[in-house]
Amino acid sequence: MKRIGMLTSGGDCQALNAAMRGVVKCLANSGEEIEIYGFLDGYRGLIYGNFRMLGEHDFSGILTKGGTILGSSRTPFKTIKDPDENGLDKVDAMKQNYYKLQLDCMVILGGNGTHKTANLLREEGLNIITLPKTIDNDLWGTDMTFGFQSAVDIATDCIDCIHTTASSHGRVFIVEVMGHKVGWLTLNAGMAGGADIILIPEISYDIDKVVDAIKQRHEKGKRFTILAVAEGAISKEDAKLSKKEYKKKLENYKYPSVSYEVADRISQMTGQEVRVTVPGHTQRGGSPCPYDRVFASRLGSEAGRLILEGEYGFMVGYKNREIVKVPLEDVAGKLKMLSPEASIVQEAKSLGISFGD
Ligand code: F6P
Repeated sequence: MKRIGMLTSGGDCQALNAAMRGVVKCLANSGEEIEIYGFLDGYRGLIYGNFRMLGEHDFSGILTKGGTILGSSRTPFKTIKDPDENGLDKVDAMKQNYYKLQLDCMVILGGNGTHKTANLLREEGLNIITLPKTIDNDLWGTDMTFGFQSAVDIATDCIDCIHTTASSHGRVFIVEVMGHKVGWLTLNAGMAGGADIILIPEISYDIDKVVDAIKQRHEKGKRFTILAVAEGAISKEDAKLSKKEYKKKLENYKYPSVSYEVADRISQMTGQEVRVTVPGHTQRGGSPCPYDRVFASRLGSEAGRLILEGEYGFMVGYKNREIVKVPLEDVAGKLKMLSPEASIVQEAKSLGISFGD
């Protein structure tokens, strides 16, 4: 008999349900007797003992379902060791609930912040297995996270739609893509959607170079220009600021987000009309794409296998086209940035895409 706790934490993404289904199907098909404790709304459920007992049937029919059947929330790692508003020690509370229910392990699905807390729980002696979710694809130790490909598809659809309207009007269009502090999503969606200019956090942009790229297109007789701008894109001037100075700038920021600043500067410098589209949370919504369904199912299945073997303290990841287990201590606290020297960036440049650098 295995008693498994499960939770999904942080911003949701597609294929969380597919991944959990993978874990449960693998365990159930092994013939092992299982009890599943689904903690609700992320770590909050584990802290306050808020859970539902789930059976195999709860994981049927959810392969294609977006969101998470367990609910999610953000429980910042930064304050995880601080007592809550009633003085409760949150880490201790999570341990107590784990021991009270006599769990064999916790399966935790999440991104960067989630992994820091998961690793802390491992250090505290709990058996932990994690699965890498995030549309940002910024988790260390895995080439790919589930949710990413589905988000690429949605952001690409958005750029495709902009393309048809852009071709009717002589304008500059900006599509702002999520991805937090990294550019994986923007670069992939930008390339897939045929964006002319791609601005990502890892390559700070020079607005003069951006404007040059727009002018060059104009001179070639192109009526429109499409920019894919990462929500974390940063100008060369801003990249030079200290953390404190940058924070100060943001306090008095007059734009809703970076794309509007880029748009404003382009229209001032070129006199051209610029339109901004922000697909926002739609990028995390809807059904997982087929790739993510397969990928998350594979990760879930491997997590199930590790549980059956009693191998804990790992994130199940993907390296060089293989499903692998990665020690949690190697994953926690590291960000997987996109290198400006990566071949995909060089290839994009060869295609004529400007990064404004
Ligand atoms: O980490 C996933 C993500 O969607 C990021 O791309 C984005 O910056 C952030 O979450 C948005 O967070 P929230 O849903 O809390 O607004």
